[in-house]
Amino acid sequence: MQQASLYTPTVSRPVYILGLSFSYHDSGVALLKDGEVVFAAQEERYTRKKQDDRLPVSAVAHALQFANITIEDISAVGFYEKPLLKFFDRLLPTYIKVWPRGLLSFLHAMQDWMHQKLWIPQNIRKELKYTGPISYVQHHESHAASAYFLSGFPDATIVTVDGVGEWATTTIGKGNGTEMELKKEIHFPHSLGLLYSAITYYLGFRVNSAEYKVMGLAPYGKPAYMDQMRKLIDVKEDGSFALTMDYFDYEYGLKMTGKKMEELFGHPRRTPESSLEQFHKDVARSLQEITEEVMMKIVTQAKKICPSRYLCLAGGVALNCVANGKILRSGLFEDIFIQPASGDAGGALGVALCLWHRMFHGRRREKMEHAFLGNAYTNENIRAFLDAEKLPYEHLDDAALIDTVSSLLEGENVIGWFQGRMEFGPRSLGNRSIIADARNKENWQKVNLKIKFRESFRPFAPTVLEEKAHEWFDLQTESPYMLLVADTLPAKRQEIPAVTHVDGSARIQTIRRNQNPRYYDLIKCFEGKTGCPVIINTSFNVRGEPIVESPKDALHCFLHTYMDYLVLGNIILSKKKMPPERMQETEAYLKQFSLD
Ligand SMILES: [Fe+2]
Repeated sequence: MQQASLYTPTVSRPVYILGLSFSYHDSGVALLKDGEVVFAAQEERYTRKKQDDRLPVSAVAHALQFANITIEDISAVGFYEKPLLKFFDRLLPTYIKVWPRGLLSFLHAMQDWMHQKLWIPQNIRKELKYTGPISYVQHHESHAASAYFLSGFPDATIVTVDGVGEWATTTIGKGNGTEMELKKEIHFPHSLGLLYSAITYYLGFRVNSAEYKVMGLAPYGKPAYMDQMRKLIDVKEDGSFALTMDYFDYEYGLKMTGKKMEELFGHPRRTPESSLEQFHKDVARSLQEITEEVMMKIVTQAKKICPSRYLCLAGGVALNCVANGKILRSGLFEDIFIQPASGDAGGALGVALCLWHRMFHGRRREKMEHAFLGNAYTNENIRAFLDAEKLPYEHLDDAALIDTVSSLLEGENVIGWFQGRMEFGPRSLGNRSIIADARNKENWQKVNLKIKFRESFRPFAPTVLEEKAHEWFDLQTESPYMLLVADTLPAKRQEIPAVTHVDGSARIQTIRRNQNPRYYDLIKCFEGKTGCPVIINTSFNVRGEPIVESPKDALHCFLHTYMDYLVLGNIILSKKKMPPERMQETEAYLKQFSLD
C-alpha cells in the first residue's frame, strides 16, 4: 500500500475514493465521499454485456456524473485485489505444479495476463485519465470490508467464502471499530465456491453465473449423493476442508470437471439446455446439503476464533440464501449482515472502504440501509425518450400512479417497474423489477415462459412489507436484500403459490418505507385492495441479458416479451396501446420462442 502521507486530505475539499473491481468477472465501481457510499454500479448494466469483466469505464463515468465531479477530484483509486500476488504467487506455481497437463490453460492465462491483467495500473491511468495514487487490497479483505464496514455493527465475526481470490478461498476475520483483520484462511485449490461451480458445470449450467439455478433446483431433489459429495470434499469439525483434486480439472484444464467426476456419479455431464432428470435434482440437493454443512461449521469455528454477537458475510457463496437462512436460524449470532453485492463487483465497495479507514483514518459510517446506489432517470428524461419513440403513454401523479398500478397488479398482469436509482448487486429490489400478483399460480409460468424465456423450475422471490413478514413467513428479522430463505407459513402457502417453492420455502425480500417509499406504498396499496402484503419481484431482464439500466433497455424488454404494462417513473405504457407497427416487431421477435 501507499504511504499515508500521500493521502492527507485538505480541510476544505471532500475526500473522494474510487473503488474498482475488474479483470476476472463482474466489473464494478464504488464511489465514496468522505467515507459514505454515494454511488455503486456494475459495468454490465451500461455495456449490456452480461458479467462484463472489462475496466468499468462507463460505470466510472456515471459515478463521476452522479457526484458532479471529474476524475481530478478523486483522491485515491483502489483495486480490489493484488494482481501480481495472484500471478506470481498462485497462478504460476500452480501451472508449474501440474505441468505439462495445464499447458493449454497456461497459454490461455498467459495471453490474458499479457494483454490485460499485468497492465492494470497502466490501464487505469490511461482509460480513466487518472494521475493520482492507486492502492491494492487483497481480494478477501475487499469482500470482508464490503460487509463489515457497512454492517453498522460495533464489532463482528467476519466470514468470506468464494471461488478464489489471490490464494484464499475462505477466510475468517474480526472487525472492531475501524479495524479489521483476517486471521485464518483456506487456500486454493480447496474452495467451496469452486466445488459449487464445478457441480454447476457438471449439471450443464454456466459457471460464475448459474450457481443460483442449482440452488433453485435443489428442493426438487433428495440428498441421495452425499457419499459422492464426501469423496469430493473432506470436511473437518473445525470447518476446514480439502477437495480431492483428482475429481476436478480446473487447476490445469479449460473446464471444471472431466471423466473422473462422471465416473463418480455414474452419469455423463448434462448437456446444456437438455432436460433435467431426477438425477440432476438429487445432485443439486446433495451439493446444497454439503454446502450448508460446511458453512455452518465455518461460522461456528469463526465465532470461536473471533467471537462476537454479530456476523458479517461476503464472497460469492454468501449469495447462497438457503445456507444464510440456516445460519440465521441456528441462533449462533444475534444479527447477521450480508453484503448484497457479495460477488466480485462488491469488491469495489470493499477496497474503497479499506482505503477510507486505513489511509485516511476516516470515521465509520452508518449501516448500509439499501442497495439503490446506481443512477436514475427523471420523468422529463423518460418523456423525452418516449416522445422520440412516438409511443403513447400516460403521465400520472404519485397518488394516481400507486392506485392505478396496484389495481393492475391484481390478477394476471405482469408489469415492468422501473423507478429511481438502480440497485447494486445481482438482485432487483424494487427499482428495476418485474412485478406480479403472488396469489396467482399461473403467474409463475407466465413470467418464466413468456417474459424470461427460461426454465420453469425456478421459483420467484416475494417482496413483503417488513412489518407483515412474520405473518406470512417463518422470518423474525429483516431481509432487505433477498438473501435469506425461510418457510412460507403453512397456513399461507396456498395463498401465495407463485412465490412458495416446492419445499414450502421462499427467498424473501422485506421492504420498509424508508428503504424505498414508492415501492413500499405500492405494496401497501395492493394489500389494502387484496389483503395480501406480498407480490412477486423478479429481475427486470430477459434471459441472457443484464438487468435493465435505462428507459431504453426497459422499453426493449417490454417490447420483446409478453409483459402487459411498463411503468417508468410516473409514466405508464400499456401493451394494448402500442402502435401496430411496434407490435409487428414484437410478434416477429417472439416467434423464435416456442410457447405452448
Ligand atoms: Fe471473490
